[in-house]
Amino acid sequence: MTSPADLSVAGAARGEQSGDEAAQALFDDLIAKDSRIEPRDWMPEAYRKTLIRQISQHAHSEIIGMQPESNWITRAPSLKRKAILMAKVQDEAGHGLYLYSAAQTLGITREEMMLQLIEGRARYSSIFNYTTPTWADMGAIGWLVDGAAICNQVPLCRASYGPYGRAMVRICKEESFHQRQGFEILLELMQGTEAQREMAQGAVDRWYWPSLMMFGPPDDQSPNSAQSMAWNIKRFSNDDLRQRFVGMLVPQAEVLGVTLPDPNLRFNDATGQYDMSEIDWTEFNEVLAGRGPANAERLRRRREAHEDGAWVREAAAEYARKQALKSAA
Ligand SMILES: [Fe+2]
Ligand SMILES: [Fe+2]
Repeated sequence: MTSPADLSVAGAARGEQSGDEAAQALFDDLIAKDSRIEPRDWMPEAYRKTLIRQISQHAHSEIIGMQPESNWITRAPSLKRKAILMAKVQDEAGHGLYLYSAAQTLGITREEMMLQLIEGRARYSSIFNYTTPTWADMGAIGWLVDGAAICNQVPLCRASYGPYGRAMVRICKEESFHQRQGFEILLELMQGTEAQREMAQGAVDRWYWPSLMMFGPPDDQSPNSAQSMAWNIKRFSNDDLRQRFVGMLVPQAEVLGVTLPDPNLRFNDATGQYDMSEIDWTEFNEVLAGRGPANAERLRRRREAHEDGAWVREAAAEYARKQALKSAA
């Protein structure tokens, strides 16, 4: 296969377009045809960097997102609920691993990504910096947080970067199980006692606005969105996805019998969209800046888990070394 460097030499000799231009033209053509870019293909540095940042942040979110829920595994109200919650939290670990692997194909190591996370140099979704004071939070996280993740991630199955898009296909299947288990926890609570109904409504009140913030700032304040859309990484704008999410929630909230905590929420026939109250971005920015209810705790636990796991990494490396010696002998 001809590398961009070969093209550059051949092109320069013939006085044709430079190698970089030819490689860029090939890349642009693949994007225009809505084809996939694979790890072996030339890609602009900015595309590679954007993807590394997005995919690693996504991986970190999956791993940090295990914490607010694993917190409830020992206190789940029944064996069935415990088994379901354990499976869900394990799924999130798996999502992190697929995504770290996808990011590695872009030339960053797992170690570097992990260091960026535990040294506080990388971001993860702010939603995981909220606390989970009641069992109903497990329901609200599944219904709202995993629900928002699905809305965000289904279009990513068609992302132009092959390894990312393919990882998202499996992740989305598992996310829809997560959303249903959350819905079902809330449904059961809403059919229970007055105290249980209050607990469910309280959790919905806590998670509704943060889940809407998961789609990111309004379109007119989202400077990188246009480039990501031009590269076929992002397919819909933040506000479009948020509308789609609210449209999914409204009928489900009716089935549950919970109230979405926005007095101004109603469908506007004229615009074909939901009118809603202004989102309080000050709170979002506080959490993003590291001043949310559990930012410090999440990173401390992640660092601890990394240190506690050192022996596993050492043992695996030693085993691999011995296997390599054996096959070389
Ligand atoms: Fe996930
Ligand atoms: Fe999930």
